[in-house]
Amino acid sequence: MPHEFGSFAPSTEPLTLAIVGCGQRGRAYALYALEDPSACKIVAIAEPRPVTRKLMAETYSVDKTLVFDDWKDLLKASADTLQAIGKRLADAVIIAVQDQMHLEVTLAFAAQGYHILCEKPMATDIESLLKMEHAVKKAGIIFGMGHVLRYSPYSQAVTEVVRSGQLGPLINVVHIEPVGYFHFAHSYVRGSWAREAESSFSLLTKSCHDVDILCHWLAPGSPTRVSSFGSLQHFRKESKPPKAGAATRCLDCAHERDCAYSAKKIYLDPVASGELGWPAAILVDGVPDIENITGALKSGPYGRCAYECENDVCDNQVVNFEFSSGATVSFTMIANTQLICDRQTRLHFAFGELIGDMDTFTVTDFRTRKTTHHTPKNEGGGHGGGDMGLIRTFVRAVRTGQQEQLGTDVTDVLNSHLYVFAAEKARKEGVVVDCQKFVKEQRAKYPNV
Ligand SMILES: NC(=O)c1ccc[n+]([C@@H]2O[C@H](COP(=O)([O-])OP(=O)(O)OC[C@H]3O[C@@H](n4cnc5c(N)ncnc54)[C@H](O)[C@@H]3O)[C@@H](O)[C@H]2O)c1
Repeated sequence: MPHEFGSFAPSTEPLTLAIVGCGQRGRAYALYALEDPSACKIVAIAEPRPVTRKLMAETYSVDKTLVFDDWKDLLKASADTLQAIGKRLADAVIIAVQDQMHLEVTLAFAAQGYHILCEKPMATDIESLLKMEHAVKKAGIIFGMGHVLRYSPYSQAVTEVVRSGQLGPLINVVHIEPVGYFHFAHSYVRGSWAREAESSFSLLTKSCHDVDILCHWLAPGSPTRVSSFGSLQHFRKESKPPKAGAATRCLDCAHERDCAYSAKKIYLDPVASGELGWPAAILVDGVPDIENITGALKSGPYGRCAYECENDVCDNQVVNFEFSSGATVSFTMIANTQLICDRQTRLHFAFGELIGDMDTFTVTDFRTRKTTHHTPKNEGGGHGGGDMGLIRTFVRAVRTGQQEQLGTDVTDVLNSHLYVFAAEKARKEGVVVDCQKFVKEQRAKYPNV
């Protein structure tokens, strides 16, 4: 593969990685460097939160000259090194900052020739998506996307059944994403993805990887038409329980004990019983304890009444796709569930069906009347092993110079995002959208990116 910053000769040395944003996601991928130090090493980090930055630097023994408060400082140091000795600070960068920063960071690091693993969603508007595709192609770099669902042992085993053709053509898929009642309140009501203007619409921020894997299972067909309905039904002032009265924070609320979305139940009670990870860990810089979480609930965004936030993204949405093969897909994203992100999937083939829950699946063959049960081995980590599966695959792709190891490329990623935008247009305008026409129109609209 052509590359303006050097060759892709396979190396026996560990791949060097820079992490931009050491929040939940940056740290999840970094773990691979601890799991397999012979594969990769974290050599540089950028993170503004001091305690998080210090813990991260210590955990990965990052040289203090390569620990930065801001990604722009890391970029600058890299540019200086590039100029001085013709080498970047690292082989690849993991971009795990918030959604609206992906564009700027990707363009900057691609221009220096970094291979990039960018978190999902790729970007929050169509022009940015196209700019990113252009920059990645121009730089000739390996590009991975945080579509972790594709890389879990479960999804890969399901994909094998689909690709084998053993049950005949795939005719219909029913796929549900149960976001989880308190997860939704945490992330999409009180948290970073609550407002479309500050991140994006929830089908994109939450479900772009569902649309991606649905497209993956139905490939080589592609979506032809899409319709969608959805709204913000529950998490708004009109649904506020009367007993909550004028309270705007859970710690002052008379209804708190009876409320499903009580911030005390979501954050403080788990910390009191020793559960110090997500979601409480998001509220503070460093290790959560009763005192700092109480402080965060008194004055921070996560202590607000779930019916009194400025959130505006959908809490329920249905999307129907028709594919070029004639196959149909119905997808539902729903906030109010006990399950947290454990997708429920039914794949209906001509001669059988596959029913799965992201952990185990059954395959029934109508011809033999037999059902087999499958529990693909998951060695742990988030998203059923998908987080580790993705970073492992990305590192392998960069070390071998083979984008195809990732099973996707930047244009594929861009297209699946465009189908999400097509679905959102269908919802907002109450129309059925012609997906391929939509893709062509969007590309024509931004010819000079
Ligand atoms: N693939 C998935 O399944 C999945 C799941 C959750 C989130 N995400 C995506 O991953 C990304 C990160 O999400 P998260 O949950 O880790 O969020 P987070 O807020 O925990 O992490 C973002 C980090 O970026 C840091 N940051 C902010 N400004 C910075 C700057 N100028 N320079 C360097 N670092 C900076 C923040 O301090 C924070 O630590 C988002 O785009 C999100 O949508 C993907």
